[in-house]
Amino acid sequence: MESVIKLAKILVTSAWPYINVTPHLGNLVGSILSADIAARYYRLRGNEVLLVSGSDEHGTPIEVEAIKQGISPKELTDNNHAYVSELFRKWNISYDNYTRTESFVHKKFVQRLLMKIFENGYIFSKEIKMLYCNKDQRFLPDRFIEGTCPNCDYEKARGDQCDQCGKLLEPTNLIDPYCVLCKSSPIIKTTKHWFIDLSKLSNKLKTYLSENNNLPANAKNFSLNWIKEGLKPRAVTRDISWGIPAPFAGAENKTIYVWFEAVLGYISATIEYYKNIKEPEKWREFWFNKNAKTLYFVGKDNIPFHTIILPALLLASGEDYNLPWNVSATEFLQFKGEKASKSQRVGIWIDEALEMFPVDWWRFYLAATRPETKDSNFSWELFIDKINSDLNDTFGNFIHRTLKFINAKFDNKIPSPSNLSKNDNQLLAKIAESVEKLSLDFENFKFQSAANSLIGLSRIGNQYLNENEPWNLIKNEKRKAGNIFYVASQIVKAIAITSMPIMPNISQQICQILNLSQNKKSLCWEDALTPLDANHQINKSKPLFKKIDSNEKELENKLIMIRNRLS
Ligand code: MF3
Ligand code: ZN
Repeated sequence: MESVIKLAKILVTSAWPYINVTPHLGNLVGSILSADIAARYYRLRGNEVLLVSGSDEHGTPIEVEAIKQGISPKELTDNNHAYVSELFRKWNISYDNYTRTESFVHKKFVQRLLMKIFENGYIFSKEIKMLYCNKDQRFLPDRFIEGTCPNCDYEKARGDQCDQCGKLLEPTNLIDPYCVLCKSSPIIKTTKHWFIDLSKLSNKLKTYLSENNNLPANAKNFSLNWIKEGLKPRAVTRDISWGIPAPFAGAENKTIYVWFEAVLGYISATIEYYKNIKEPEKWREFWFNKNAKTLYFVGKDNIPFHTIILPALLLASGEDYNLPWNVSATEFLQFKGEKASKSQRVGIWIDEALEMFPVDWWRFYLAATRPETKDSNFSWELFIDKINSDLNDTFGNFIHRTLKFINAKFDNKIPSPSNLSKNDNQLLAKIAESVEKLSLDFENFKFQSAANSLIGLSRIGNQYLNENEPWNLIKNEKRKAGNIFYVASQIVKAIAITSMPIMPNISQQICQILNLSQNKKSLCWEDALTPLDANHQINKSKPLFKKIDSNEKELENKLIMIRNRLS
């Protein structure tokens, strides 16, 4: 993949979570946490980064939930947006702007852009047959309707997309459709809708996709295949009242299909950010300057919206927006081998998790098991193992034993190196190699590998200490022992910096003990390889982790207790 380190402004984005529910760990790792890790990495590299996202407030999932709770959709999203924004802060997601699709800037921007697309001749209106529930007296688009997928036979496919095969659908494609509110069979009713003619954009989309060599193969092939099969017009409007009013003449009581506005949130959130800081023109630098890159972290079900729908809207506007530079899609995180489901109580939600363990324990675990090439499965057994053996026994132990020794035997000062042995020098070279490997991991969004490389680096440090036994050397050969701790402290420094994207709190704690960035501007990635000076004074070391001494059953019970308290 093309390297953009130091070259570019990077707009990093995470898919906007539907705010009908609190996200679960799978939602978090796929888009939100991944985007944060990337944004933190690029910032360390000196790129100008803007991290944006927001709550996806419109569309049928919200309305369905509000009806269930007997409140208005706005009340539901106001509450949930406030709750979830606060949770993202606790998860240390470094958003520059986490906004919402009800924001004024967003609504105006969407209406203006769609009008532009209309004026450019890509949108037409047409009478169509739609599914309608006589009992609930409403049309049944998207998630108001479920039925069997005509493509893969999945029985709970929704009106707009099948969750099993990922295909985009129309409600009338569904076999045996039923209303999700009352389960009755719908009737067919005629209604007028506005459509975007995606086929007119086929060639441009094909060129964009084929020329983009950053897109991962899964996203690229899926999208190119879809174009090959022939892009059909997609309805831009909906007969529901909750949403952004459609701007077209004659469409006064229709709203815009949620996907055709939510994806535009990436732009409106950038505009809003710069408006808030009183630099209202600067958003353009991210969206029109060809040296700026836009990077999207999404779950695999979101791929076509980011590789086809978003580029289609941008191209149809005729305004030369930057098209997605990269779309990094994850597979799903499962729980006990199943998809997370609130009603079946399968899964762990992001508020529950933080009641159980510190945030960086989760951030590390999630990065280390991120579903990159296939679905992954959460298990307490693996969680306990990652925390106890990787973080506590290997990572934490190496750092603490090194720094504690320097506290006790070298008067809190980094020993000064003299006549380093071949072995010592080899180890210093190894640090450089590991840091280089970590850069590649982060740049290629291989966060699993990055998490493991951090543990690997501390394992190397532990071995080095064990083989050289500086606690014995100190008695008669203080110079040699000093060399060992000089080298070991350089590993600690490299870890302190390179762990920042995944474990920002832990990284900060290590930096604090190392007494870094006192008389300096903020730290950067290159500092990982700038040695601590001899005689540099450090602070008192403290253990960074502690072992989990509960078993799986106990943790599961604790989770259930927390869940009952929170709900
Ligand atoms: N709300 C969608 C989901 O959870 C994602 C929307 S991403 C955006 O699947 F681009 F539309 F914002
Ligand atoms: Zn299907």
